[in-house]
Amino acid sequence: MKNNNIILMGFMGVGKGSLARELAASTGRIAIDTDDIIESMENTKIKKIFEKKGEPYFRECESKVSRWLQKSVHNTIISVGGGFYHVDNLQKIGHVIYLESSFDAILDRINACDNAASKLKKRPLLQDMKKAKKLMKKRHPHYLECADTVIHTEGKESAAIADEIIHLLKLSSK
Ligand code: S3P
Repeated sequence: MKNNNIILMGFMGVGKGSLARELAASTGRIAIDTDDIIESMENTKIKKIFEKKGEPYFRECESKVSRWLQKSVHNTIISVGGGFYHVDNLQKIGHVIYLESSFDAILDRINACDNAASKLKKRPLLQDMKKAKKLMKKRHPHYLECADTVIHTEGKESAAIADEIIHLLKLSSK
């Protein structure tokens, strides 16, 4: 049985974290983020985990977090890292929403932030833009396959996307 969580999935920089906070504020639920949990669990920044232990180790951390989420987390808004779709129990954790956007719109969104440079720097798989664009293209069908709901996010503010989700899933507002 699903845990009544809402999972926000999508490529790096699409706005999962901001949307999770927006949804939390509107619904009174708590928002958590899988990257934050991994950083606490390892007491290390994601960038350093990639550098010191490699991507396969990071993916194992994601799997560990996914088992914990399934077992222990309920009624929560969960934003997940862009590669989290690989875990084998995503569907059992909650309702999966794929936040879809074009690569260019994601870059525009990041570049519009005051701290754009640090947003890029902390993401090891967002250093070479050609490679990142390819990665996004490769992942798109997997995201679609995992998703219960797809939301097109381009040109929309997080508040508007949050309203769309609240309406679609008939969530009660605070
Ligand atoms: C990754 C996305 C990142 C983070 C890590 C790997 C990915 O999270 O989990 O750098 O593989 O797409 P965000 O999607 O929150 O940037």
